[in-house]
Amino acid sequence: MTVTDDIKARLDIVQFISQYVPLKKAGRNYTAPCPFHQERTPSFVVFPDTQGWHCFGACGEGGDIFNFVMKKEGLDFVGALRFLAEKAGVELQERTSDQIKQDERLDKLRGLLNEAATFFQKKLSSGAASKHARDYVQRRSINAETVDLFRIGYAPAGWDEAIDHLRLLGYSLEEVVEAGVAVTNEAGRTYDRFRNRLVIPIFDERGRIIGFGARALAAEDNPKYLNSPQTPLFDKSATLFGLHLARRAIRESEMAVIVEGYMDAIQAHQSGFNNVVAQMGTALTRPQLKQLSKYARRLVLALDPDVAGAKATMRGLDVVRQASETTQAFFDPAAMIRQASRLDIDIQVITMPEGKDPDELIRDDPQAWTRLIASATPVADYVIEAGTAHLPPNATLAEREQVARELVPILMATESSLQEYANVQKLAYKLRLGSGRELASWAQAQIRAVTTPMQPVTPPQDRQARPAEPARPAETATPDSTADRAARAARPGPPVAGGSVVERECLAMLIRQPELLSSVNRRLRLLASQWAQAHDALGPLSIDDFTQSDLRAVFDTLQRALGQDEQDVNDYLTARLPFELREVLERLRAEPVEGFEQRLSQPLRPDLRGFLKVRTPEERLEPRALELRKQRLRRENMDLQFLQQSADAEMDRTYGQRLLINKTAISAIDSEIRRGPFRG
Ligand code: UTP
Ligand code: MN
Repeated sequence: MTVTDDIKARLDIVQFISQYVPLKKAGRNYTAPCPFHQERTPSFVVFPDTQGWHCFGACGEGGDIFNFVMKKEGLDFVGALRFLAEKAGVELQERTSDQIKQDERLDKLRGLLNEAATFFQKKLSSGAASKHARDYVQRRSINAETVDLFRIGYAPAGWDEAIDHLRLLGYSLEEVVEAGVAVTNEAGRTYDRFRNRLVIPIFDERGRIIGFGARALAAEDNPKYLNSPQTPLFDKSATLFGLHLARRAIRESEMAVIVEGYMDAIQAHQSGFNNVVAQMGTALTRPQLKQLSKYARRLVLALDPDVAGAKATMRGLDVVRQASETTQAFFDPAAMIRQASRLDIDIQVITMPEGKDPDELIRDDPQAWTRLIASATPVADYVIEAGTAHLPPNATLAEREQVARELVPILMATESSLQEYANVQKLAYKLRLGSGRELASWAQAQIRAVTTPMQPVTPPQDRQARPAEPARPAETATPDSTADRAARAARPGPPVAGGSVVERECLAMLIRQPELLSSVNRRLRLLASQWAQAHDALGPLSIDDFTQSDLRAVFDTLQRALGQDEQDVNDYLTARLPFELREVLERLRAEPVEGFEQRLSQPLRPDLRGFLKVRTPEERLEPRALELRKQRLRRENMDLQFLQQSADAEMDRTYGQRLLINKTAISAIDSEIRRGPFRG
């Protein structure tokens, strides 16, 4: 029995709600004027059998004891859970001792890094030993205010100055190593990682120090930047330098600019371009893009000129990877095009003028930066431009074909068929190679000839006419059938734990990719606009679409997680949910969802997408979400029909209207499911 079941078993909904409104018995159920809106005739019903309630009047809402408390007391699900746990005398276990220990350990490491930063800052601000570092800062035109803002410091040249300082403060040697401030060599000797370097703290999104990047000051010191290693706090590939300072400006300008280096971001901020973050020399990752997509729909990448051209094509990619092992700075246009469509953001690029990085450009001429940003091009256009730039005006057909072979797969990495069509069309025009459609099918044939498909291939011309995915019978016949509901009503105590298969699958998918919720809601919105009569029954996905309290709790918390930006969605879920529900979360995370898992762990090769029968996560989730809504409406209709039996004329009409709305919505959903995948 889960904690929500336990609470429900101990509290009787009729008794509980009657503390708020006077309930009157009507047949097997109880009615009252709705406590949530003004009304004369009672349309608020409490069902003792299922321990539920529903307002069939103006608010049209319903649920279980948890929703009631949420609405009445203005709490989120977890708040309601705490409230009712206390009433029911159920003790909630907040965190396990392991988790408390782990959190304390991370807090301690953060404290350590903060102390280390303060130590480095002091070392930079005074002392003869750091004069050269101060000179360097000045040479790079970094002013005192910026030094303070970014908490820039200096790591002294000795072998254990930072270690000694931190140990004096009470940290153990192991902790100093774990935080990445010291290293142990093969001989077992432990020493300061950063020596005679300018130290730049790296902050997390919330402004806490999680690592350092340290620039060499002596010409012979290698590498140029020595960074913190991967630690429990620091993951370079999931971090963007400067984001804690840039968040507000990114939101306000509705755009984030991504540069490659620390110095570029620092200089940009100093000059008032506060929407700039740095990717610290690695390829942009999905977690980084996702972080930014919370604040802005438009991302601008500042590319280096020397590599940008070559990197725009697949041909250049490997070369670049090998050429710059230290920085690994490369730009993968296919990945950018794919992620842009997945995250529903625009990714644009600017190319820096020859020989200048943003740092120098901004220092020399801030206006030039503004102009450059204004000239940003969508990444697909950029691929077409850069990839065809070397072609002479009189290029042969074979030469043009070669370029097409390289560029089409990049352009087809998008998951939006509209964009794909538009971009391939542009390329066809540019290369004088027929229409976009011809070019696309030619390219597909080319690719098919050199790849061994892992799954049956759908010929390209069939793509539009692909038959709708038949509803899977095993899924649609889920526990909310009449028989099940009757069984549940007859059984004393709480409903079956676990919810239906569809419920769990939807939630499992949403936890893996929370941003899919907006695509589901977009689809419902569209449907509601097409079926005005059913509008009220086609609102966004809500906790009422889930029957089981644990799943409702997770969904409610997920929604709230998406509405905040302090924490990563998954961190928020883990932090906010009480321990008992975290188990539910873990189970959902582990719940296999057909095709979904495989797709995420193994991103589909862009050149194969389109002719393999692989559905996008949206295409997998949406039919299930629609099914979920259908089940809810069916449930509601059963209640309504039941209520009609003992209703007076006026209520009978109210119930009847609602029944009709729900039935219309159900047929809208049915026809939508038949229509199949939804794109764009
Ligand atoms: P750059 O070499 O372009 O850095 O590398 P930069 O910021 O312009 O450096 P300055 O102006 O010469 O001081 C881009 C980024 O790649 C990472 C750093 O994050 C750097 O800011 N990088 C570079 C490393 O991590 N290690 C290196 O050795 C070099
Ligand atoms: Mn530079």
